[in-house]
Amino acid sequence: MLHPFRAYIKYILESKNEYSVHSPFVYDYITKGLMNKASIDLINIQLFKKALLKNHEQIDITDFGAGSKVFKGNKRIVSKLASKAGISRKRGELLFRTVNYFKPNTILEIGTSLGISSTYLAGASQDAQVYTLEGCPVIAGIAKNNFSDFNFNNIELVVGEFEKTLPLVLKNKKIDLVYFDGNHQKEPTTAYFKQCLQAAHEDSVFIFDDIHWTSPMENAWKFIKNHESVTISLDTYKWGMVFFKKNREKQHFCLRI
Ligand SMILES: C[S@@+](CC[C@H](N)C(=O)[O-])C[C@H]1O[C@@H](n2cnc3c(N)ncnc32)[C@H](O)[C@@H]1O
Repeated sequence: MLHPFRAYIKYILESKNEYSVHSPFVYDYITKGLMNKASIDLINIQLFKKALLKNHEQIDITDFGAGSKVFKGNKRIVSKLASKAGISRKRGELLFRTVNYFKPNTILEIGTSLGISSTYLAGASQDAQVYTLEGCPVIAGIAKNNFSDFNFNNIELVVGEFEKTLPLVLKNKKIDLVYFDGNHQKEPTTAYFKQCLQAAHEDSVFIFDDIHWTSPMENAWKFIKNHESVTISLDTYKWGMVFFKKNREKQHFCLRI
């Protein structure tokens, strides 16, 4: 319970702004990507989320992985799930701006839920193909219908346990951006990271949600940022991001954004 609070104090003490970043690659991404003030068209994404917030249907969900700190049992109201489990508008915009900046062709999201974050990933670039993985068939069904209703035609939703679907989706692909937002536990997170490495390349971007959520997730993040394949890592408290640029010394930045 106390872990996120302690981790946040540490982050506040250690984090710096963009001017302290002595990496042109990271500075450029922060200033021209994340902090870019150019307006972005989020209307279709907002309509997608609004439809979920108006849906007060009760559903039975299949619970995988780390469970929830917010919900108890296996019954959910769709509107509540959308407001509590879906990505916040601020983080969604950061995802959108990240896709705009790096221009990935192939994006993988591990953890769809109702698909809110998928729409930020897909909405930022019609040219990108987004693969998104979800284990609960009922939640996935709602996401799939809404992707179709709101014309998010560049999203392919793959239903099933990550342990089965991830190897199938990764097969024979190079992935440019991965958003890890499912099963927030240490062993699965590091296992998915290692599997995704096989499909990564020098310009791939991996984003991990909730790296300071629990002490085991903190350890997963330590393992990932210290991994030999990672040359640059960013901690923005909620997200950890890693890059694989070759022929560089390892660099880590704790950033306030
Ligand atoms: C935090 S939610 C994703 C939220 C979504 N990315 C968003 O921001 O809108 C994580 C999802 O991963 C799914 N999940 C967790 N562990 C899983 C597993 N082992 N296999 C398949 N799905 C899993 C859960 O059912 C849940 O819907």
